[in-house]
Amino acid sequence: MAATDLERFSNEEKRNLSLGGHVGFDSLPDQLVSKSVAQGFSFNILCVGETGIGKSTLMNTLFNTTFETEEASHYEPAVRLRPRTYDLQESNVHLKLTIVDAVGFGDQINKDESYRPIVDYIDTQFENYLQEELKIRRSLFNYHDTRIHVCLYFITPTGHSLKSLDLVAMKKLDSKVNIIPIIAKADTISKSELHKFKIKIMSELVSNGVQIYQFPTDDEAVAEINSVMNAHLPFAVVGSIEEVKVGNKMVRARQYPWGVVQVENESHCDFVKLREMLIRVNMEDLREQTHTRHYELYRRCKLEEMGFKDTDPDSQPFSLQETYETKRKEFLCELQRKEEEMRQMFVNKVKETESELKEKERELHEKFEHLKRIHQEEKRKVEEKRRELEEEMNAFNRRKVAVETLQSQSLQATSQQPLKKDKDKKNHMTPPKGPLEVVTSPLCF
Ligand code: GTP
Ligand code: MG
Repeated sequence: MAATDLERFSNEEKRNLSLGGHVGFDSLPDQLVSKSVAQGFSFNILCVGETGIGKSTLMNTLFNTTFETEEASHYEPAVRLRPRTYDLQESNVHLKLTIVDAVGFGDQINKDESYRPIVDYIDTQFENYLQEELKIRRSLFNYHDTRIHVCLYFITPTGHSLKSLDLVAMKKLDSKVNIIPIIAKADTISKSELHKFKIKIMSELVSNGVQIYQFPTDDEAVAEINSVMNAHLPFAVVGSIEEVKVGNKMVRARQYPWGVVQVENESHCDFVKLREMLIRVNMEDLREQTHTRHYELYRRCKLEEMGFKDTDPDSQPFSLQETYETKRKEFLCELQRKEEEMRQMFVNKVKETESELKEKERELHEKFEHLKRIHQEEKRKVEEKRRELEEEMNAFNRRKVAVETLQSQSLQATSQQPLKKDKDKKNHMTPPKGPLEVVTSPLCF
């Protein structure tokens, strides 16, 4: 087919044709149903509410079973998310149900960051799904989807107003998950107080811009019931695992000395409304909203953060391939820049070290010269001293020789003395003169 023909064909309006007989594609919805049933469904509920508010009891009541549960302590250092997955079956429909408890919510003295672990948990589930989607070999068909489809926010039945923790947490969560607010332990609050409490809660949510999940009214089949139920929000619920005999029937109820609160009695509480809306009418819408609204938002932000976009600056379509190429070029340029920066840094470092070494060498040389000078000076002094000592020794030796000469002369003189004595005796004994005076004189130096 020529290009122009193709263009004409695609521009043409689609024509309605009537079939001559039964073809069989009217079974498509049935095919879809049987495929979905065979595949099974997953539904993930996040329960946020303070410790002991009745989360586990309500889950047990909602699914008419006993999930494994353990009481949380009031001493958790931080909020912790505890997911538990169960396989449930009703008729031939398999449901993989995950109940995630926000353990320790509202128990810390500083509650500023109480919402963060919850937000992080929701984001992690989105991220896991996104990573699976981005894989080359995806297995979304049998992927265990852990994205949170609904957050049941348990409000404490104070009868006053919402706590700031509730408003902050719901505000942080509303763009990430479908929030259904419920007033827990509604049997502890009187009918008139409950009515006022509901109005107060809704006005506070509106004035703080908190977007709660609205039951959809675009599908004719459920539009009416959903719009009626939207007006009943937040549902005031009672949970119980006890069975009490009322009339001739065993019903789930809470028994008090003054009477029985029946869980499934609509004039006692909104439990039936919640079960109807959550499970029987809007479960698929909650799953769809999670995928098309909350996950889509997360995915868009994440891909934009990574630099992917649908259009270029001139609003022209920008393919994934082009984005990849641009990103690759940007990355290579950045890599080159970093490499050059590191090389320059290395050269500078080498230069710095070289000049430091040179400086050290110069200092050492100076030190050596200084020591050499000192050494020479010392040597000169020692030499001078040696010379002086030598001179002194010579002088001493000379004197010594002189003394020895004198001594020998004096000895000679003494040996000749008897002869002389005789003579002197003859010359009237005159005392000896001269040489004796010289003997003593050299010793006086
Ligand atoms: P943690 O998991 O420990 O945070 O508690 P939880 O929120 O799961 O509360 P749980 O269901 O364990 O209930 C705590 C207590 O509250 C139990 O004694 C329940 O019987 C009681 N309880 C639960 N639901 C209701 C209710 O609707 N009304 C009243 N009055 N008590 C309730
Ligand atoms: Mg519990």
